[in-house]
Amino acid sequence: MATATTEAVRLPPGPRIPKPVQGVAFLAAGHGMFVALARRYGSAVISVNLPILGPAVVISDPVLVKDVFNTSTDLIERPTSGPGSLRDVLGAGSMFSLAGDQLRARRKVVVPHFAGKRVRSYEEIVEEEVMREIATWPEGREFETLPSMIRITLGAILRAVFGAEGPALDELRDLLPSMVTIASLIVVVPLRMRRDLGRWSPWGRYLRYRRRFDAVVDSLIAAARVDPALEERSDVLAMLVQARYDNGEPLPDRHIADELLTLVIAGHETTGLTLAWAAERLCRHPRLLSRLTEEVDAGGSELRQATIWEVQRVRPVLDGTPRRTKTRIRLGDWVIPEDTHLIISIRLAHGSEESFSDAALFNPDRFVGAVPKPFAWIPFGGGVNRCVGAAFANMEIDVTLRTLLRELRFTPTNAPGERRRWRGGATAPARGARAVVYRRTKDASSGAAHNRRTSLETVQAAKK
Ligand code: HEM
Repeated sequence: MATATTEAVRLPPGPRIPKPVQGVAFLAAGHGMFVALARRYGSAVISVNLPILGPAVVISDPVLVKDVFNTSTDLIERPTSGPGSLRDVLGAGSMFSLAGDQLRARRKVVVPHFAGKRVRSYEEIVEEEVMREIATWPEGREFETLPSMIRITLGAILRAVFGAEGPALDELRDLLPSMVTIASLIVVVPLRMRRDLGRWSPWGRYLRYRRRFDAVVDSLIAAARVDPALEERSDVLAMLVQARYDNGEPLPDRHIADELLTLVIAGHETTGLTLAWAAERLCRHPRLLSRLTEEVDAGGSELRQATIWEVQRVRPVLDGTPRRTKTRIRLGDWVIPEDTHLIISIRLAHGSEESFSDAALFNPDRFVGAVPKPFAWIPFGGGVNRCVGAAFANMEIDVTLRTLLRELRFTPTNAPGERRRWRGGATAPARGARAVVYRRTKDASSGAAHNRRTSLETVQAAKK
């Protein structure tokens, strides 16, 4: 990619209808609108004009996605303030509000916690969270798995980030689900409407939750500062308390709190929803379910990993990720003006027939013996802003699925696939990923359930 300051602007094709009408279409269909437009214009790059964002270019072609992710941050940056940014919600000290050297320095502190051997050290925590949660699951009765999946991933990330157990953690477990629900609403509200109009207004409620969060975190930071064993601790809070900027200054407490909130919010709903989609897909693919169970029993993992990648391909929980041009740029055949939003559409990229044959089909076998192509498969974004929790999330999903398949038998269903429901930030299965499960130790005694299962084995899953 290059600057194109002397070239005339040349935008990709797109609808000419007024901005408010495009806004209504986006509200109704989300990235489904981009999917329809890409089909209509026969182009993997399209122009749109949306309320709040203004003119924007939607990108999904892997060559251009690579260009955008790999280009210098002098030309393109993720928005760190204004429309499309999370600064208001997560705070000025959050990674989502940082750019350039500040972002690089912060990632240097945080990334090692969620990579390599460190990730494997969290496996036990995840398995404990899963076992605790499934102990409450009913047998033989349909229920929503989604809330459980979110509780599992919330517990796991809280323990990895804060290390500690006890009342502070219990308070956070209690507080965060409501806080995330409100935060997801707020991110789609125009900036000027984010005002504290009392405890019943969304912003007012969010600020009250945030004060409760800060009070808990302040007490944990204060305890960490006087902890004689601080240097031996391996939780993220302890690392942030010990981190120093290049000039030797410690991070202000407020920024530590912003970052901890960022990790917890960015880290649990996304992973929990991916697990819910995995349950939703598996219940509709009985043959795959049996193969995965056999693989778990034999101690394998290849098909499970392929399934995780395929779930993320067909049901990415984040539809897209934003960038903004800082100067006029050339992107493929197009010349895009300064200060234009670029929307990298994960959903559109994952549905591309050029990148994935029979793209609409849920077929984990496409990834058996093959890893996903880097700029065609992008659930975690890419470049300098690539998700810091990608390896951690993959481990969580893997350990959770392994444990669920070891402990439970999911009953296949021929119900239609659940639709996508947009929750503000992320996309969830509309009916909560409903499932019927039996404990595997009781398999032999549950003959009726077994018969029901085998008759469903014939369901033609590919139809859904
Ligand atoms: C399946 C689960 C997850 C998905 C689908 C996901 C997806 C994403 C995406 C699309 C981005 C934006 C990347 C970009 O703009 O290029 C992102 C950023 C981020 N994610 Fe995740 N994420 C997941 C789990 C996690 C977890 C477990 C954590 C925490 C441990 C986490 C922490 C973050 C942070 C801090 C960023 C901002 C990185 C930066 O700006 O430098 N995410 N994630």
